[in-house]
Formats: sequence, C-alpha cells, structure tokens
Amino acid sequence: MTPPHIPVLDVRSLHTHIHTAGGPLHVLHGVSLTIDAGECLGVVGESGSGKSVLARTVLGVHGRTVRVENTGRVLLHGDDLLDIDPRQRRRRLGGGITMVHQDPMTSLNPVVRVVDQVTESLTNRTRMGRRERLRVATELLAAVDVPDPERRARAYPHELSGGLRQRVGIAAALAGDPALLLADEPTTALDVTVQRTVLDLMDRHRAARGLATLLITHDIGLLYGRAERIAVMYAGRIVETGPTEAVTGRPVHPYTVALLRSVPRVTGELRRVLPTIPGSPPDLALPIAGCPFAPRCERASAVCGTAPPPRVDVGEGHSAHCHHPVGRETTSTTASVVVPKPASAATGTVVEEAAP
Ligand SMILES: Nc1ncnc2c1ncn2[C@@H]1O[C@H](COP(=O)(O)OP(=O)(O)OP(=O)(O)O)[C@@H](O)[C@H]1O
Ligand SMILES: [Mg+2]
Repeated sequence: MTPPHIPVLDVRSLHTHIHTAGGPLHVLHGVSLTIDAGECLGVVGESGSGKSVLARTVLGVHGRTVRVENTGRVLLHGDDLLDIDPRQRRRRLGGGITMVHQDPMTSLNPVVRVVDQVTESLTNRTRMGRRERLRVATELLAAVDVPDPERRARAYPHELSGGLRQRVGIAAALAGDPALLLADEPTTALDVTVQRTVLDLMDRHRAARGLATLLITHDIGLLYGRAERIAVMYAGRIVETGPTEAVTGRPVHPYTVALLRSVPRVTGELRRVLPTIPGSPPDLALPIAGCPFAPRCERASAVCGTAPPPRVDVGEGHSAHCHHPVGRETTSTTASVVVPKPASAATGTVVEEAAP
C-alpha cells in the first residue's frame, strides 16, 4: 500500500484573532492551503488582506507584545505546529521553517557582522570556531551570488546595498536547510532588475533543494513562471485558488479579475490609466454576514450581502468562493470578462487588454 501523501505545509481552516486595544480582530477566516516539497505557492492580495499574519502564524512569531489566538491546524510534515508553544518552536523545528522579509534592514541586526547573522540558524554553530564560521558564511554567501563573499561576510549590514542585503537575508534563511521558506514580499524594496535576479535565485535554490515556498506578494504579475499555484486573499479569506495558469487565465472570482486588471503592462505607450479597485477592504473588527467583497463587487446581488459565498469548483484544483463566479453566469445581467495574461516578467511580452 502506498503511504498517504503528506505535504510539507498543510494549513487547515485556520482562524486567527489578534487582540488589540480596540478589541479582537478576526484576521484570518478559515484559511486552508497546502505546499509540497519543491513547490511554490503564491499568495496575493491587497494591503491588509492578512498575508503577513498568515506567514507569521505559520512561523509562530507575532512579536512579544501581540496576543494572538488560533484555531485550525498548521501541519508541518504532518505535525501540528499550533500544539507547540511558540517559544519552543524554534528549538523543536531547528531550521525547518524560515522567513525572508520585505526589508532585510528590519530583520538583520545592524550591529552584528554578516558572518554571525548568516550562520545563526546553524545548530552546530556554537561548536564552530571563528575561522570555521567565516568559511561557512563565505560559502553560503557565494551560493547566493554575493560577489567577494569573504569581505562581505566581515561587513555590517549597512555597508551593503539593498540587493546584497536581501541576498544575505536569503543566505541566512537557507543556512539551516529548511523544508519551508516563507518569503513575505521579499523584493518589494528592490528595483525591478535586482528584484528579478533575487527571485530567480530563490527559484534556483527551491528547485535544487526541493524547498517548499510560500511567496507573498501584492503583485500577481510577479508570480508568472514562478508559482505553480496561487491563493488569492481578501479580508483574511482565500477567495480563489488554483494552478497559476488557471487562476490568471480563467479567473472566476470578481476580485481576482479586478486584481488582474490592475496589473501594469508594457504596451509601448501609455494608452490608459490602470483601473484601481474602487472602495476599500472591510473593517476586520466588524462582523461580515455575506461576502466580504460584495460592497466593491460589480456583480454583487442581494444574496452577497447576507449569505456566505459557496465554494465553486471550476477545474482541477481550481476553486473560488463566490455567489456569481465569472464565466458561470446564471443570469443575463452578468457580462463575461476577458482577462488576458499580463506581460510575462521573463520575456516582457506585450499583451493588450480586451475592453471589459
Ligand atoms: N500586531 C498587530 N496588531 C493589530 N493588528 C494587526 C497586527 N498585525 C496585523 N494586524 C491587522 O491584521 C490585518 C492584516 O494585516 P497583514 O499585515 O497580514 O496584511 P498584509 O496582507 O500583509 O498587508 P501588506 O500587503 O500591507 O503587507 C490588518 O488589518 C492589520 O491591521
Ligand atoms: Mg504584509
């Protein structure tokens, strides 16, 4: 009998409440997702949709002053992390899960040399002498294409450019040979060219090490050719998920459609102002009876304001939560929307949008 398939990360019906001075915030609402070894899941959504809270909950790090309550399951190789006291997790997991942050200046310690930060997650580091540490750090920096790695290993973070700092952050994250890498907007602070090289570098290590990766971004265009699957988040819920090709080529949730419309394209000339999504996300402190996107949705009807949206399965591993999924019209009031693929990050392909 073949053993059951166990993903590296398996999040099931995760609800997260953050206690604030103004009362509890229900930030994550029944989030479920899986990531296999060597796979990249892209998590995309507007600011405030809960992407970072999701990553921090998986990692078990919310900051000392933040009180958080979780229900559901967060399984790493089948073991429920929510059963482990967050203070014990690091010791129990070793380098099992690591995170690359948006701005490495906030995660790197400004008064500690790169060599010590890069080797920090190595379990045998206390037994390593100074020269051994420098040798290992130099190797780790060379693996993420840092030029002159030995000199950079002796430097302090502020002596490096933003791109190099992010490479140091990646080297530190990869040092403990993790099974799961959480990358929270890892390249937002970098210019476009450096962004591409850093993402390529992460892809290379993912493939070589069979690393499961959760790549968080607010830019869905960045996920082409990188993420096998995408989870679209809105107001703490995954509103659509599926293979990247399906979610971007045949989106069914009106929010995904709106997100794709607002991706900039290279068209040779400025032909139009990029559409933004009117309105703003809901206040998480207030209860939502129906679909959280309803007040901003051009397809919404009365039911959307009162009943939670049902799950609709539209293809292999492709599903959404919506009363009126695009392309599945049940009434004549809904017009089909054609959303082409944005310009490929790799080729700079020119794609024009069909008028909605
Ligand atoms: N420590 C905290 N205390 C109180 N509220 C918080 C805390 N952390 C997150 N939140 C709230 O949780 C919600 C989700 O925040 P989160 O940082 O996960 O959003 P995000 O999707 O990562 O946004 P961005 O794209 O801006 O990084 C927001 O409403 C935020 O204000
Ligand atoms: Mg965030």
